[in-house]
This record gives sequence, structure tokens and C-alpha cells, in this order.
Amino acid sequence: MDSSEFFGFLAHRSSVREYTDEPLTEEETDYILACASTAPSAGNLEAWDVVVVTEEDARYALAEAAFDQEHLARASTVFVVCANYVRSMSRYGERGILYAVQDATIACTFMMLAAHARKLHSCWTGAFDEAAVREVLDLPQHIRPVALLATGRGHPPAALTERMDAGEHVHREQW
Ligand SMILES: Cc1cc2nc3c(=O)[nH]c(=O)nc-3n(C[C@H](O)[C@H](O)[C@H](O)COP(=O)(O)O)c2cc1C
Repeated sequence: MDSSEFFGFLAHRSSVREYTDEPLTEEETDYILACASTAPSAGNLEAWDVVVVTEEDARYALAEAAFDQEHLARASTVFVVCANYVRSMSRYGERGILYAVQDATIACTFMMLAAHARKLHSCWTGAFDEAAVREVLDLPQHIRPVALLATGRGHPPAALTERMDAGEHVHREQW
């Protein structure tokens, strides 16, 4: 892939919230997880974990925990990407909290792009009640859910979402 193909690959991903009933294959799921494990991490500690949720009851429970965001129930798989505080804090102390959240975030980003590479669709979902998600998945105390990545075979929107001009984000040398 050359640099313009790479840009096109990124620019043509959209969040998708409508999905068919056809589930991900095991191979697709494994591919997405393998891509996540190529992500960089602070000190290479990989302070992230993921709960792969496919059962319908659990997907509905996650949708409820995410303030009734139904796309989580409609997607055939929800990857619940979590920060593992113990793994990072054992080396980095308090700073490890931030590193673990960053590790989980970049792992989730790689998963989202891996799904896109396989022509699957996804929606990063950050609005949820953490306590409710913890309860649905029986998460231990040192594991913090960071993002719910709804994934499936979807119906992409006709038009891409608009963006600010890249320059609007940029401050050169100093703010
Ligand atoms: C940190 C974060 C949190 C998000 N939370 C939600 C969410 O709770 N529900 C939702 O439907 N989309 C959510 N999204 C998806 C955004 O709405 C979407 O990425 C944005 O509107 C740009 O659209 P695009 O992904 O189609 O380019 C979230 C995205 C990010 C990165």
C-alpha cells in the first residue's frame, strides 16, 4: 500500500451503527485480535485486555449499560477493550494509569482499522456507565473498560463524516 492508498484507507472508514445478522467468522475475530497485539505500548507491557462479547443477552446488557445505544446489541461482536492497571502500575506507579489507558486506546484503534481492512464495520463507543459494564462482564477491580467496539457487517453511511481542516489542530513550535 503506498501513502496515498493509506490515506484513502483511513479517510474511507466510517462509524457504522446498522448491521446484518451475519456474525464475524472465527478467523476474522482472530485477525482483529492479532492486529491489536501488534500495537505499541508503554514499556512494551501491553497493559490492555479485551473481552470478546458475542452472546445476544450480553450484547443487549452492554447496550443498556451504554445508555440504550442499540448498535451494541445489533453488532454481532462487541470488543470491550480494557486498561489493565496492574500490568502498567507495577512498573510505572501512578503514571501507569495513563499508560494503561493509552495502551488500550491504541489497541482499540488497531482493532477498528483491522475491521476496516477486512471490509467489516465498527463503531467506537465511549459513552457507557462503567459500573454497569463492570457488572455485565464481571471485570476485576484493576481492569477499566475504556471502549466498546461494536463490530459486524454493516450498512455504511452514503457520505463520509466531515472533519475540521488538519491545520485547525496544529500549533507549531508553541501553542
Ligand atoms: C472516544 C470516542 C467515543 C465515541 N463514543 C461514541 C458513542 O458512545 N456512541 C456512538 O454512537 N459513537 C461514538 N463514537 C463515534 C464517533 O461519533 C465518530 O467517530 C465521529 O462522529 C466521527 O465519525 P466517523 O467515525 O464516521 O468518522 C465515539 C468515538 C470516539 C473516538
